[in-house]
Amino acid sequence: MGNIKLNFDNMGIANAQIAGIEDKIAAATKAMDEKRHQMAWRDLPHNQTAVVEEILAYVAETSPKITALVVLGIGGSALGPIALQQALHSPFYNHHKQFRANAPRLFVLDNIDPATMADLFALVDLNATLFSVVSKSGATSETMAQFMLVKDLLEQKMDKEKAKNHIVCTTDSQHGNLIKIAKTEGYKTFHIPVGVGGRFSQLCPVGLLPAAFTGLDIKALLKGAADMDKICQNADYMANPAFAFAIYHYLAMEQGKNITVMMPYVDRLKYMSDWFAQLWAESLGKDGLGQTPAKALGATDQHSQVQLYVDGPRDKVVVFLGVEKFDADIKIPKTFNDMPAIGFLGGHSFTELLQVSQKSTEYALTKAGCSNMTITMPQIDEYAMGQLFYMLEVATAFTGELMGINAFDQPGVEEGKNALYRHFGKPGF
Ligand code: PA5
Repeated sequence: MGNIKLNFDNMGIANAQIAGIEDKIAAATKAMDEKRHQMAWRDLPHNQTAVVEEILAYVAETSPKITALVVLGIGGSALGPIALQQALHSPFYNHHKQFRANAPRLFVLDNIDPATMADLFALVDLNATLFSVVSKSGATSETMAQFMLVKDLLEQKMDKEKAKNHIVCTTDSQHGNLIKIAKTEGYKTFHIPVGVGGRFSQLCPVGLLPAAFTGLDIKALLKGAADMDKICQNADYMANPAFAFAIYHYLAMEQGKNITVMMPYVDRLKYMSDWFAQLWAESLGKDGLGQTPAKALGATDQHSQVQLYVDGPRDKVVVFLGVEKFDADIKIPKTFNDMPAIGFLGGHSFTELLQVSQKSTEYALTKAGCSNMTITMPQIDEYAMGQLFYMLEVATAFTGELMGINAFDQPGVEEGKNALYRHFGKPGF
C-alpha cells in the first residue's frame, strides 16, 4: 500500500521564507506534541477496536432488514460520511443494485428543506429504513427537528416497540438531550468520544457506521489513518506532509493569499472539497483571520473557473487532488484520422486525458505565478482515504498553532445557533 504524496514545488515559496519562521514552526511542533492529549481525534485510529467490532456486529444484524439508511446530521456529522461514500462507491450506488451488492441505499439528509425531505419520505419504505441520528451536542435544531419528525412518522406507522429499532443515535455519551432520549426510548447508541469535535469526527462512529453499512472496509480506513499518524509525528516538517501543508498555506496567507481552492481531478473526490471546506473554514476562520476555502472539479471547472484562477487576482492557492491509478480506464477510439485537430486524441486513454489536463492547468497557473500544490493518491481505497482525512486534520490543527488561534471551537456557529434558539423561545436563551 503506497502513501499519498504531496508536492509544493509550484507554491512559489522559497526555503529562506520557511527558514524565516523556524521559531514559529518549532513552537507549533512543540504545541502539537504537548496538546496531543487534548486532541482525542488523534487517537481514533488506535483506540477503537471494540467500537469497530460493535459496529460490524450491529451492521451484520441490521443490514439484512433494511433497504435504506438515512443519516440525519449536519456539518461535521454529515460531510465526512458524504465524502467517504462518494469516494469509495460508484456515483450510481443508490441507483442500481449492481453497484451496492446487498447493502442498503444511503441518504444523508444534511439540510431541512421540506421539499427534499418530502421527496425522500415518499421514496423510502419506513418499514425497511434505519434512521441514524448524528449529533455531538444532541441540541442542533436542524437535526433534532428531523429526528422529531422521523420518530413521529415511525410511530404513526408501527408500534413504539418496533419503531425504536428503526433509530440509532450517535452522540456524546454523557452530555446533551439526545443521549437522554436514546436511553429513555431504548435506541441503539454509538458514541462520539469526549474531545472529538464534529468536523474532526469522521473516523469515529460518525463516519464508520454509515461506511460499514455500505460495505466499506472500516479497518483499512483506520489503518491508513494510523499509519499517517506515525508520519505526522515526524518533527522534521519536510518529512511530515501535514506540517508542510500547513507551513506552505500559512506563508501563502501571509502573502495575502486569502483563498484556497481544492480541485480534485477525480469525480470520486469531489465531495472531499466540501469536507475540507468545513474543516478549514470553521477551524481557522477566527479573530479576523482565516483563508476562504473554495471548491472546483477538474476537468469540468477548467471550462468554468480556471480563467479566474490563472488571470484574476493572485489571492489563491490551488490544491490539486489527483490519483495515479483509476479503478477503470477507457481508450479513446482511433477515429477521425483524417482530421488531425480531433484525431490526435485517438488511441490515448481517458486516464491520460484527465491527468494531462491536471498537469496542463498546473502549468498554466505556475506560468502565471499562481501558487499551486498537488496531493496525489496511489489509488482511491479505504486505506488511502484514511491517510487523506487524517493528514488534512493534522494540517488544520498545525495551521491553527502557526496562526495562534484555537482550531477546535466555533463561536461564530454557536452565535447563530443561539440566535435561532432565542427566536423560537428555547428556555435559557
Ligand atoms: O464541526 C462542528 O463542530 C460543527 O460543524 C458541527 O458538526 C455541527 O454544527 C453539528 O453539530 P452537532 O453534531 O452537535 O449536531
